[in-house]
Amino acid sequence: MALKVAVLISGRGSNLQALIDAFGPQVADSPVRIVVVLSNRPDAPGLERAAKAGLKTAILDHKSFAARAEFDLALDREIRAAGAEFVVLAGFMRLLTEGFIAAWKDRMINIHPALLPSFKGLDTHRRALETGVKLHGCTVHFVRHETDTGPIIAQAAVPVLPDDDEAKLASRVLRAEHRIYPLALRLIAEGKVRVEGERAVIDRMPAPDGVLLNPADS
Ligand code: GRF
Repeated sequence: MALKVAVLISGRGSNLQALIDAFGPQVADSPVRIVVVLSNRPDAPGLERAAKAGLKTAILDHKSFAARAEFDLALDREIRAAGAEFVVLAGFMRLLTEGFIAAWKDRMINIHPALLPSFKGLDTHRRALETGVKLHGCTVHFVRHETDTGPIIAQAAVPVLPDDDEAKLASRVLRAEHRIYPLALRLIAEGKVRVEGERAVIDRMPAPDGVLLNPADS
């Protein structure tokens, strides 16, 4: 039986698109079924991607709620009403309350555009460039109360190149995001990910070979 997921977005929805391409209604025998796409912004372009794919969408405008806790309660209700058993944050730009996060512990994942635990928070690409790291990337992790923490499921590394600016680096990382988010969700849906303490352990996966060097030693 496919894992029923709710995808939460706030904007562009390119990660949502990667998930649609991997698990959308057009995919036979998908291990994942997207039962609802929820946005806190009525104008999020990602909503159109969802509608185009024939997915159910819902808008919960955070501005119409007096308090964060009320918004999260409504969010929880929508997710459950759609029959979702798992939550995927895909560029969802709202901080969630402790209660909501506890309710979905080990059943909610996020993608962060940096190799955690480096560069938590916003402007990760700018800070990576300023710091001069030679490898940067992205991380899929289970969500915990402290922002951008939680058991790490998958990471992808990309080189930082001398003529990079924020946009170039962001688009290189984004291409990697679109590969690891479906990969991580598939592993979870297939029951290959367990949380032990605060670490995610993945069974029966081939190890990648080679080492990513930057600069390369040619
Ligand atoms: C991505 O960079 C993701 O890592 C971060 O927010 C951005 C969302 O982009 N959490 P998109 O809406 O999926 O295109």
